[in-house]
Amino acid sequence: MSIVKFYRKEHQVPLEMHKVRIVQKLYLPTVEERLAKINEAGNNTFLLQNKDIYMDMLTDSGVNAMSDNQQAAMFQADDSYAGSETCNRLRKAIEDVLGISQFLPAHQGRACENIIAETFCKPGDVVPMNFHFTTTKAHITRMGAEVVELVAAKGLAADSLDPFKGDFDIPRLKQFIKDNKERISFLRIETGTNLIGGQPVSMANMLEVSDICRKEGIITVLDASLLQDNLYFIKTRESAYKQKSTKEILHELCAAMDITYFSARKLGFARGGCICTNNEELLLKMKEFVPLYEGFLTYGGMEVRSMEAIAVGLYETLDMEYINQGPMFIEYMVNELDEYGVPVVKPAGGLGVHLDASRFFPDMPHDQYPAGALAAAMYIAGGIRGMERGTISEQRNPDGSERYAELELLRIAIPRRVYTLSQVEYVADRIKWVWDNRNLIGGLRFVEEPPVLRFFFGRLEPIGNWQEKLVRKFREDFGDSL
Ligand SMILES: Cc1ncc(COP(=O)(O)O)c(C=O)c1O
Repeated sequence: MSIVKFYRKEHQVPLEMHKVRIVQKLYLPTVEERLAKINEAGNNTFLLQNKDIYMDMLTDSGVNAMSDNQQAAMFQADDSYAGSETCNRLRKAIEDVLGISQFLPAHQGRACENIIAETFCKPGDVVPMNFHFTTTKAHITRMGAEVVELVAAKGLAADSLDPFKGDFDIPRLKQFIKDNKERISFLRIETGTNLIGGQPVSMANMLEVSDICRKEGIITVLDASLLQDNLYFIKTRESAYKQKSTKEILHELCAAMDITYFSARKLGFARGGCICTNNEELLLKMKEFVPLYEGFLTYGGMEVRSMEAIAVGLYETLDMEYINQGPMFIEYMVNELDEYGVPVVKPAGGLGVHLDASRFFPDMPHDQYPAGALAAAMYIAGGIRGMERGTISEQRNPDGSERYAELELLRIAIPRRVYTLSQVEYVADRIKWVWDNRNLIGGLRFVEEPPVLRFFFGRLEPIGNWQEKLVRKFREDFGDSL
């Protein structure tokens, strides 16, 4: 996708710079079937079957389309247990693209987090970060340590239009270090901050944080899973970096960190995970856990063909014509919805479009799960699968009370290089319909609630018969349309 201008000034749309050569048939069940399916799935979009989904916008994790070059590279995978050339090629790609010479393989992002938490966290420790991610927090708390979020106030202000809402609050960070230095296992920076709407962190902020940590002797860990979008935003929104190449930016950023890890289900358009560092001492500390939990040091639980795909995918991450598709589609959809008055997190970030469920349902209490209710309504309205990123995604407090989410969001992720603009238009259309019919929608309650990562497996039911009313309204408005 490139910045190609259209003749009619008022009709500028994002234009893809790739073509699709393999397609997958999609099905859209009727609205009555959708009502039945969402209830079979316990009103949890994670439990829906893919065959029943028209637009799978749950995540961009492991569902991005591979390029021809990635597919071609997979044929040369060197499937040996030890000393594999595939591992050498991935190491070289990491060195070229990120400027980091050593890496430990793991089967996906959370496996990297498991190793990092197990190596560095002990009971009573704290891990400051701009914002938590579900799996990161679960691993850290499992080790008896605590997560502390130090995102700047703008990050949680739905009405802030700041271009870098994932930034750390530097004065709070300094004070926090002063008060807790002995207990800090490491500091984590999450690029493209997932749970606050895929909002980026500025280079200036990340470099300042790293500088502070270096002076204080605190290990810095960069979660680069969503770095692809963040890189796009640094290049397009941060004036000091407009003239720098994507590679120069990545090298400068990673050089400032002690450890950089990523989920290759996101960064690299493939599947897997890597922990990268130039620090031998830190590498040695983490290394022993790879054969223990993941696999031998040359593959770490990854399938070798995926490693070849990651290597090529990392190089593709340097190409603005590839990495701008997500942010440009997201911006297009955010503008469409915003003009219509739908409450959506702004400015447009990475990862996906984030609907503000608290403003859809201002009177719905957190413990009726507004973002979860909106997710169920979106599936009923259009066979669209989004992901709840609100109170359901939180863990309960140790005393069993609910921990209310700072933001009640429904994420409509945009997998990369997968959907077309007309499909994006369809999703925006059905969101507008749900917005216009929001008064019909009610809350949810748990009927099965697992104690850990409940958002993955928990089952809920609607409070009252609001879903049947929504189906009736759909038929009134759309007639016999699917
Ligand atoms: C910021 C961030 N970190 C870590 C992870 C975990 O990665 P994985 O899903 O590969 O385990 C994710 C996944 O969504 C993520 O978004």
